[in-house]
Amino acid sequence: MESGDIIAVFGREPTLSAWELCRLTQTEDFGVLTKELAVLPPPDGLTSYQLQQRSGGLVKVGEVAGTVKDLAELEHVLDKQWPDRIPAGSTARIAFGASAYDGGVAPTRNFRRDLGGMLQRVKRTMVEQGRSARIVVSKESTLSSAALTQGKILERGFELLVLVQPSGLVYGFTIATQDISAYGDRDVGRPQRDMKSGVLPPKVAQVMINLAHLQPTSVLLDPFCGSGTILQEAAMMGFEKLFGSDVSAKAVSDTQENLVWLATQRDVPAASAVDVRLGDAGKLPDLYPAGSIDAVVTEPYLGPPQRGVPAGRVLLPLVSALSRQYTQWLTNIAAVLKPSGRAVMIWPFFRVEPNGYFLQLQQAAHAAGFTFVAPPPSLTQQSWFRSTPRGTILYSRPDQIVGREIVILQKRA
Ligand SMILES: C[S@@+](CC[C@H](N)C(=O)[O-])C[C@H]1O[C@@H](n2cnc3c(N)ncnc32)[C@H](O)[C@@H]1O
Repeated sequence: MESGDIIAVFGREPTLSAWELCRLTQTEDFGVLTKELAVLPPPDGLTSYQLQQRSGGLVKVGEVAGTVKDLAELEHVLDKQWPDRIPAGSTARIAFGASAYDGGVAPTRNFRRDLGGMLQRVKRTMVEQGRSARIVVSKESTLSSAALTQGKILERGFELLVLVQPSGLVYGFTIATQDISAYGDRDVGRPQRDMKSGVLPPKVAQVMINLAHLQPTSVLLDPFCGSGTILQEAAMMGFEKLFGSDVSAKAVSDTQENLVWLATQRDVPAASAVDVRLGDAGKLPDLYPAGSIDAVVTEPYLGPPQRGVPAGRVLLPLVSALSRQYTQWLTNIAAVLKPSGRAVMIWPFFRVEPNGYFLQLQQAAHAAGFTFVAPPPSLTQQSWFRSTPRGTILYSRPDQIVGREIVILQKRA
């Protein structure tokens, strides 16, 4: 591990974050890989800031500054180095903090307490040297994106990242963090949001787009665009050839309205015109020429909302009805995709004891001309990495009965 290496801190779903990171950096060569983070050499052509911007699954991105044997040595280093860590020209009260992570060894409560004590002493040094300073803390064991943003840490000071390893500590500093207020605006702050059909969290949409292996000029289609979340995120990521469709006229107008609104928001790349059409995903070749689409990224109909745990006699017919619909949609998606094009899709699954109910679509996917894309073996061998036997990733909140299975399919060449 070297100074300047990237520290990529995973979000709530480390499985998704790690797979997305492999894709974005085109590497599996991680110096450190735990359920909390990865350390890797700087990727070609991607700054730490850009990596954070492009990712939906990383909470923060930092850079390694060095290795030390213990906190005493780290304090010594920080006492000397803190002035270099204050953003140039900032004379405001310094805001700083620290987060300890599992870099092979999980930090103990005592370690975190000692780290807090060290920050107090560094603050005293700052004050003795004529700077006013404030330590940013949060309820969680590490500083969240919200804490970093609200505490103005990246504008006025720094966050120290400490990775605990069997042989000592790796330390570094945060360069960028998720813009959670922008994600919030694009989720709950946009004009239209159809909660009855369900909306995909924007970060998950971003991860799915990243897993679709797109080039800047690729043509992306969401044939179940709903409120337009996937198209919105793809536009934010700078893709310009975007198509959406939905069988519901309301969904088409919601998507159009949201995209017009998006173009008025900050940090949106030069607005790309998104072509949104009314149409049935069971007749996609009527909407788009065969073999014209590079990637489909989509969350189709997930079935009726479930209020309580449904009985098996309700679920079995529902799962087979959905499996039949999805079979037809898979054939249609394959027809409009180019050879080797990817379909990154959500399939619903039902979180019912003991093992859950899943759509039985392996044969249908193969018959439509797809193969399942599994996560890289370097990830699947990690104890914390959670994928299904068919190589898919399950995503749900504890209170949800209908979960989302993230499926990556590739059309055979
Ligand atoms: C779960 S919602 C998609 C939500 C979307 N991902 C978002 O975040 O806004 C599913 C969408 O599929 C659409 N739909 C259902 N059956 C369809 C069909 N046969 N063809 C096209 N769209 C369909 C519904 O109108 C609904 O908008």
